[in-house]
Amino acid sequence: MERPDNRSYTLRGARGTPAQDAAYASLWETYGINPSGTLNLSDYFPNSKRIIMEIGSGMGEATAGIIQNDPETGFLAVEVHKPGIGALMSFANKNGSNNLRIIEEDAHLVLEHWIPDNSLDAVHLFFPDPWPKNRHKKRRIIQGPFLELIAPKIKAGGYIHIATDWVQYAEWIAEVLRQSPLFHGGEIERPEFRPISKFEGQGLRKGHKVTDLRFFKS
Ligand SMILES: C[S@@+](CC[C@H](N)C(=O)[O-])C[C@H]1O[C@@H](n2cnc3c(N)ncnc32)[C@H](O)[C@@H]1O
Repeated sequence: MERPDNRSYTLRGARGTPAQDAAYASLWETYGINPSGTLNLSDYFPNSKRIIMEIGSGMGEATAGIIQNDPETGFLAVEVHKPGIGALMSFANKNGSNNLRIIEEDAHLVLEHWIPDNSLDAVHLFFPDPWPKNRHKKRRIIQGPFLELIAPKIKAGGYIHIATDWVQYAEWIAEVLRQSPLFHGGEIERPEFRPISKFEGQGLRKGHKVTDLRFFKS
């Protein structure tokens, strides 16, 4: 399988703190999925009323809070950063959460190869890397082809919810989505369910404005 040339993430080391590495080693069997074909998501979330994919769960503290507060929803986290996955599993385990599963891979590949059509109630994309430099804009995860990958996976009435603390990226996201016939929507109020993550906190301390956008599948 080919990863995109313009990766939307920075390749960082696979080693984390001893605690993150230990959590990864002991908890992957509980929370991890190693797909080999199209997944039947209800096998992993048999009791869930909804299934939400969270792309880029980062260091996991916000994701773990969202999961704990919404036990009726199954959350499929997709992340490429192993130490962050270790941290997320450690939080979830401490909270006793069993409504979490994780795939360690680029979201493009996950959507293309393993997620069935019409299987997700929503996709969360919180604080995707903004890639502010002009020459890096092609690395922004929100692009027309990415929307074409996501749209078929979302059920009728479902949505993608994006939050960013980078005003120019919020404008970019709104424009890419406005040009897409696959979604309709726009800016919304900050939802109460989203705790402030490390990345969001850093942005807020620098005086960044946070924008939440929600676009429904057309
Ligand atoms: C800026 S961080 C934000 C993390 C978290 N959502 C938060 O609010 O704290 C973006 C995360 O997205 C992950 N990421 C970026 N592109 C990705 C992709 N194509 N597939 C999976 N994860 C990705 C990165 O590894 C990183 O951990």
